[in-house]
Amino acid sequence: MTTQPKILVARATFDSVLARLSEHLDVQANQDDVIFSREQLLANLQGKQGVCTGGSERIDAPLLAACPDLKIASNVAVGYNNFDVDACTAAGVVCTNTPDVLTETTADMAFALLMATARRVSESEAFLRRGEWKKFKFDLLCGSDVHGSTLGILGMGRIGQAIARRGALGFGMNVIYHNRSRLSAEQEAPIKARYVSKQALFEQADHVVLVLPYSPAVHHTVGAGEIALMKPTATLINIGRGGLIDENALADALAQGRLMGAGLDVFEGEPTVNPRLLEQTRVVLTPHVGSATVPTRLAMANLAADNLIAFLTGKRPPTPINPQVLGSA
Ligand code: DGY
Repeated sequence: MTTQPKILVARATFDSVLARLSEHLDVQANQDDVIFSREQLLANLQGKQGVCTGGSERIDAPLLAACPDLKIASNVAVGYNNFDVDACTAAGVVCTNTPDVLTETTADMAFALLMATARRVSESEAFLRRGEWKKFKFDLLCGSDVHGSTLGILGMGRIGQAIARRGALGFGMNVIYHNRSRLSAEQEAPIKARYVSKQALFEQADHVVLVLPYSPAVHHTVGAGEIALMKPTATLINIGRGGLIDENALADALAQGRLMGAGLDVFEGEPTVNPRLLEQTRVVLTPHVGSATVPTRLAMANLAADNLIAFLTGKRPPTPINPQVLGSA
C-alpha cells in the first residue's frame, strides 16, 4: 500500500472539503478550530508535507527550518502577509493563495462598509435601539452622498477594479485611483478611472477605499499626514489589512471631527480592536468578514484544497504565489 502525503489543515473548514482532501491525502484536521500556539503548530507540522493555513499561521524561515518535510503552504486567503515568501522560495516550499474566487464578494463588502459609513447606518440603528427616536427631525443623522461623489481607490488590483466598477457603473461615481502600476487604457476606459498621485487621491476623494496588499513597505500608509489631506466630509474604508492605517491617528481625527467617518473590516492587532476606535461612534467596525459568504468561503476552501491535492499528487497547483519553485514542468 502506498502511503499518502501528510497534511495539516490548521483551521476548521467545510466537511466536504476535508472529505475531498482525504481522498488523496493523509489529513490531520483541526475542526475544533484551536488557534495553535507557535509550539503547537510546529509540533503538528512534524512529518507533514503540506499545510493549509488561515491568516493566523505564520510560515517563516524558523518554521521551515523546524519542519523540513514541508513542501507546500496553501493559504485560504488572497492576502498572504502571514507567509515569508522569500524564505519559502529559498527553502523550495511552494506558497499558494486563493485569488479571483473572492473578488466580487469582497468588493460587495467594501461597498457595504462605504454605504454604511457614509449614511451612518450603524450609528442610526444604535440610536433607534437606544429608544432615542422620538420624532422626525430634518437634520437627524445626516451623512455624505455616495452617488455622484469621487471614489478614491488605493490599490487597483482585481478587487480594486471590482469596487471601481460598482462605483462608476452603479453609483455614477467619479473614480480616481493610485497603484504601483497604472491600468491599461482599455481597463480604465469603461469605468473612466483616472490615475492620480497618492496625495491627489487623499485630497480629492469623497470616499477613500484601501484595498492594497499589506507588506512592511506600506505599513501605516495612511497616517496623520494623509488624513490631514482628506476633506472633512470624506470617509475612509479599509478592507485590506489593519496595518495599512495608523489607528491612533485615525482615532484622533474621528474624535476631533476631522473626518466624516471610517469603515473598517481589518485591524492592526485583530482580533483585538484598538479601544480608541471602539469609543468612536463615526466608525463602522466589522470583524474581518470581507469574503464571508458561504459560496465564496466554500470556493476559497476548495481552491486551497485544489492547490494541495494538485501539488502533492505531482501536478501543478492552480494558484502559486512563487511559481519559480515549481520550475518549468
Ligand atoms: C483574504 O482573502 O486575504 C481575506 O482577508 C481573508 O483573510
